Amino acid sequence: MNLTLKIWRQANAKAKGRFEIYHVENISPDTSFLEMLDILNEQLVRQAKDPVAVSKGCRGPVTFDHDCREGICGMCSLYINGRAHGPDEDITTCQLHMRKFKNGDTITIEPWRSKGFPVVKDLVVDRSAYDKILQAGGFISVNTGGVPDGNAIPIAKRDVDESMDAAACIGCGACAATCKNGSAMLFVAARVSSLAKLPQGKIEAAARAKAMVAKMDELGFGSCTNTQACQAECPKGISIAHIARLNREFLCARLAD
Ligand code: FES
Repeated sequence: MNLTLKIWRQANAKAKGRFEIYHVENISPDTSFLEMLDILNEQLVRQAKDPVAVSKGCRGPVTFDHDCREGICGMCSLYINGRAHGPDEDITTCQLHMRKFKNGDTITIEPWRSKGFPVVKDLVVDRSAYDKILQAGGFISVNTGGVPDGNAIPIAKRDVDESMDAAACIGCGACAATCKNGSAMLFVAARVSSLAKLPQGKIEAAARAKAMVAKMDELGFGSCTNTQACQAECPKGISIAHIARLNREFLCARLAD
């Protein structure tokens, strides 16, 4: 496949960014999207050693985030052709393959566009706001003792399933990046829900919901208006039903106050 890539380049957080056009050739449909970017970067590294290319404005390799390349870490935050993580469903960018595109396609690649995730360089954004929300309450601090025997604490199957579904969130930021309000509600809801459905997490549920929502507001994330864009683009298929649970937890906590 021969492709044209329209990629956002930005030298640093304060610099003005712009799209630049690149061409890659003979890309196998079995290549992953990040491998395709690796191939482009090898090309750009070679060009960066060529004084003629440098004099024509070659800026060296494109900076992008990745770590596990297995859909686990949530680092590969890219907007591809206007969609978080690209055109496939329920996958991260690192799980996307070039067979989803056609020979001759032009692919637009941007970083997350969200007030909560400022651009650091090129396609890399600062997602530490999610870490700060987690630090505000996304944990259990009561002493739960040693590892209990399996089934020592009976938990209804439905509660376990809902908790595990919520725990699938990898904190990639697609929810906030894709939301027109820049809301991080799906992320916060998944964390609150995964703990609130288990007996160990119930003890601090009220304080957790209040602290995490307060931190989300403080960091500039917007409000949820139920557009459901977050659910549509979440690579882990997290349901907005968890947002309803977060709202309930939050409301009950405020009423109890
Ligand atoms: S690189 Fe880890 S989820 Fe994509």
